[in-house]
Amino acid sequence: MTQSEADPDAAALIAARPALRMHARDGLLFEDVPLAAIAATYGTPTWVYGAGTLRARARRLLQAFPGMSVHYAVKANDHLAVLAVLRGEGLGADIVSLGEMMRAEKAGFAAARTVFSGVGKTHRDIERALSRGLGQINVESAEELRLVASVGHAEGVPIPVALRVNPDVDAGTHDKISTGRKGDKFGIPLHAIFSLYEHAAGLPGIDLRGLAVHIGSQIFDLAPYRAAYGKLAALVGDLRARGLAVHAMDCGGGLAVPYRNEPAPLPQAWAATITRAFAGLDLGLSIEPGRWIAAPAGLLLTRIIRTRRHGMGRPLHIVDAAMNDLARPAMYGAWHGVVPVSPIVLHGAPEAADMAGPVCESSDFLARNRMLPPLEDDSLVAILDVGAYGAVMSSSYNARPAAAQVMVDGGSADLIRPRQSMEDLWHRELVPCVGK
Ligand code: LLP
Repeated sequence: MTQSEADPDAAALIAARPALRMHARDGLLFEDVPLAAIAATYGTPTWVYGAGTLRARARRLLQAFPGMSVHYAVKANDHLAVLAVLRGEGLGADIVSLGEMMRAEKAGFAAARTVFSGVGKTHRDIERALSRGLGQINVESAEELRLVASVGHAEGVPIPVALRVNPDVDAGTHDKISTGRKGDKFGIPLHAIFSLYEHAAGLPGIDLRGLAVHIGSQIFDLAPYRAAYGKLAALVGDLRARGLAVHAMDCGGGLAVPYRNEPAPLPQAWAATITRAFAGLDLGLSIEPGRWIAAPAGLLLTRIIRTRRHGMGRPLHIVDAAMNDLARPAMYGAWHGVVPVSPIVLHGAPEAADMAGPVCESSDFLARNRMLPPLEDDSLVAILDVGAYGAVMSSSYNARPAAAQVMVDGGSADLIRPRQSMEDLWHRELVPCVGK
């Protein structure tokens, strides 16, 4: 989260993001809406999502992956308004819980175009998925397969299933978002998959569609994808040689976004990796990206409460957003661009500064050692690329109400979730000891 020599300054961050523009009078605009006006109307901290950016990203993916199904990983940002925009662009959904299933359904995603991933599906989840007619369940273990088969058998309806393979490939990303190494909790080990696939093919409660793989998130290097898909393609050959049918390959998500303006692979390059790996195998191919679609479509608008110099001698800006809102910097040391909203402040000489939230944790920094212009108390700043794994990972730690959420579209802004009230924080709490 600290700045190095090569890191982009505010001007470079703005220049690389088509949704952002610095207006000489109105300051920072997001999809042509002044962020200062949003802060004046709705207060801070506030998440701001750009519907235009969501649509543009969805279209770019659909163009890059012709003939493949794109299932948006709902976990990245599950707000109904975000889901509605993406469903409108023709994406399917990738879900990991009953809650996400209900959200996707509520947003109008067709059940047949919804895929259910995740390691902890319960009997109830599977029954519900079946009753809704979900397109596919990605099964993560032999134990889960048994459960799914029993539900399908009991209901007399074979459940469409893909087996998720753990290919034992290191995605070369942050440890906490790697999912395809043998010690990770996800998927069925390659050595066990062959016999399990054969077994699954014979189960009356299962309609075995094929295989799935997802090796991690924020992946810059296509080589791990190539390694994983290579193993999967070989597996398809082996299974077919044994007379087993393999129709579908779910190629996962994970494409990186350039938070720091780093060189990052384009969707076309990922698509080509997939197409090459599975060429000639006549498989129904799909992907399940979340971050690449949603991250650049969101920012977190926050206000400086006060600035002081701390022990490092640098200015420390205490802002009204914190790790309970945006967990990524504290959780993964993630780097998010910080851009002042006022047009005037960009003219001051930049100085290395830190930015922290008010939460009582030493890890509650949102940015460290960043070259920022002098910022006065009450200045607004935008924390960039938080449309994915932002609000969805918020908590109310330190009794901090959930921030407001706003969507901009076509030059105007709509409130899509009011700021949580203080009463909301405790309105479901019961106090049985009162009066005893
Ligand atoms: N499919 C599966 C099975 C997944 O587990 C995930 C993400 C995706 C697809 C979507 O991956 P994406 O395209 O968004 O990289 N909270 C972390 C990221 C966790 C990702 C979890 N799984 C972060 O803030 O970096």
